[in-house]
Amino acid sequence: MSRLELNGVSFKYPRGKRMIFQDVSETFESGTLSSIEGESGAGKSTLLSLLSGLALPTRGRILMDGEPIRDLTEYRRNVAATIAQGNHLFEGRTVLENVTYPLLLKGTDPETAKEKALEYLAEVKLDPELATHFPSECSGGEQKRVAFARAMALDNPVILADEPTANLDRENSRAVADILVSLAHTRGKLVVTATHDPLLAECADRRLILHEGFLERK
Ligand SMILES: Nc1ncnc2c1ncn2[C@@H]1O[C@H](COP(=O)(O)OP(=O)(O)OP(=O)(O)O)[C@@H](O)[C@H]1O
Ligand SMILES: [Mg+2]
Repeated sequence: MSRLELNGVSFKYPRGKRMIFQDVSETFESGTLSSIEGESGAGKSTLLSLLSGLALPTRGRILMDGEPIRDLTEYRRNVAATIAQGNHLFEGRTVLENVTYPLLLKGTDPETAKEKALEYLAEVKLDPELATHFPSECSGGEQKRVAFARAMALDNPVILADEPTANLDRENSRAVADILVSLAHTRGKLVVTATHDPLLAECADRRLILHEGFLERK
């Protein structure tokens, strides 16, 4: 059971004029999908970068299982997996290589890594013929599935997805929402997603709204 906690967190960008958040406290738990809504510029992506270990709070602390995060590199490698809006797939690598990569990094032998990667790709319902394609040869929805399969291969306890259904049609959005729900409910991950999409937000166990620097429950 993992617990990720924002404890009195305030944040201002070094070159920013205003505090994006004020004294935000909230706890996220494994097995739960939480959504963060709020208007454009409210600070949803900023909040996800704090939870991803990409930025540090200006004030307050972020605690993982009660301990402050000390080593951000270690945290990003072993604790948090982020699916950015732009997916950040390796363009010069095939779909299969993208998903195999985290497994090889963790020391899995190449044959097992390939088998597991194919399982993850099947789980996100990607057409197996695309395994040898490059990301640029996949549609937006397909690329998003690959990004999720790669996050599954990383097998970190925390999964953060920024606007994962942006630019996707209804069918692909539904598929992505199903993946997020299954990551939380079947794999027991702690999943947080920033979204404008009611279809996705309605699938969340907990809906939070970021408004004028405060995080409120919907
Ligand atoms: N590197 C930065 N330096 C200074 N200000 C920034 C920086 N990045 C973002 N901001 C500002 O912080 C605020 C919050 O931005 P953020 O990207 O978190 O919003 P968001 O809720 O994700 O919006 P959207 O729905 O459009 O993605 C915005 O006013 C933005 O201009
Ligand atoms: Mg954003």
